[in-house]
Amino acid sequence: MIFCLVFVNFVIVTGCFSGPRNSILEIHCSKCHSVKVVYEKKRSKKEWRKLVSGMKRRGLKLTPEEEKEVFDALFENYSVE
Ligand code: HEC
Repeated sequence: MIFCLVFVNFVIVTGCFSGPRNSILEIHCSKCHSVKVVYEKKRSKKEWRKLVSGMKRRGLKLTPEEEKEVFDALFENYSVE
């Protein structure tokens, strides 16, 4: 019974802290700096494309699928038209 409660708690707590929608950004964009720099400012799609290619020049590694997910997450939450 206690085990059960602890387990349920764990799921709820981790669920709250890692917003699944942005976890792709946390995985890839928090290696060199805090993801805060990503969330701080909204940018246009063009600016994000430029910025991410700049990050790639600095050493960011993404497969084409990961890159698509990163852009989806950025465009959905942190972009201005
Ligand atoms: C290989 C290291 C590295 C990774 C991985 C990385 N960045 Fe960066 N990023 C940097 C460095 C270094 C700077 C600060 C220096 C600069 O702006 O020239 C920076 C700065 C930034 C800034 C602030 C720039 C500004 O002009 O305000 C943003 C926004 C940003 N990164 C977004 C991202 C995003 C989004 C990702 C994930 C897709 C990412 N970064 C992944 C190295 C990295």
